[in-house]
Amino acid sequence: MFNDKRILVTGSSRGIGWATAKAFHNAGARVAVNGRTVESTAAGIERLGGGERLIAAPGDIATVAGCEAVVGIAVDALGGLDVLVNSAGVGKGRPIEEADEAFYDWTMNANLKGTFFCCRAAMLALRESRGNIVNVSSMYGLTGTAGHSVYCTSKGGVVMMTRSLSAELAPDMRINCVCPGYIDTDMVRRDWIDKTDDPAATMRDAVDAYTPMNRIG
Ligand SMILES: NC(=O)c1ccc[n+]([C@@H]2O[C@H](COP(=O)([O-])OP(=O)(O)OC[C@H]3O[C@@H](n4cnc5c(N)ncnc54)[C@H](O)[C@@H]3O)[C@@H](O)[C@H]2O)c1
Repeated sequence: MFNDKRILVTGSSRGIGWATAKAFHNAGARVAVNGRTVESTAAGIERLGGGERLIAAPGDIATVAGCEAVVGIAVDALGGLDVLVNSAGVGKGRPIEEADEAFYDWTMNANLKGTFFCCRAAMLALRESRGNIVNVSSMYGLTGTAGHSVYCTSKGGVVMMTRSLSAELAPDMRINCVCPGYIDTDMVRRDWIDKTDDPAATMRDAVDAYTPMNRIG
């Protein structure tokens, strides 16, 4: 179904983005893999098994110039673009007292600004192919949670950005977003699961409690 489709997945050196790149690659697509650095991108490609349908598009999407560079590398190497998946993101919790400007900018730039400017950079190529965009928001883009107000704000922004752009750019292209629950990746391990400062319950218990299926994805 995706034979020779041209796909860019940001944040695909690991985690959800990597699994997304893998699924597209297994389905026959040509996939541009993106991590922040040349090394992390190469490692992601190696773990996908390498091959001529995998292209390296390293770069930091937390700046406008970075978004344009990453999308530019992908579009040039693939000869156009059919699908953009914006999966790159960061997620750390901090109570409001500790959420300073640097933390706010770090979260917002990767999650919200990066998503917007990757969409913007890919627009011409996607309009030409009548392609589509999938943004990765979060269940925390739909509901709030204590200690994660900056993350939740960024992901709520991705939901609203998706609604607005899908209206603005139709009928040339479709834009959707997904709002995953907990998925067992480095991000969740770092920030949630491995915390041991909660004497009443381990983080995994908390994850299970927030997940109707009683297990992490
Ligand atoms: N894991 C979860 O439970 C979960 C749930 C809901 C939403 N999400 C969202 O899914 C997306 C992927 O998360 P994950 O769990 O796979 O995280 P992860 O930390 O395992 O992977 C994040 C990926 O994004 C890349 N990245 C981060 N900042 C970047 C930047 N500025 N420029 C380029 N690449 C950058 C990293 O290099 C890595 O490849 C994120 O947007 C996250 O908010 C995750």
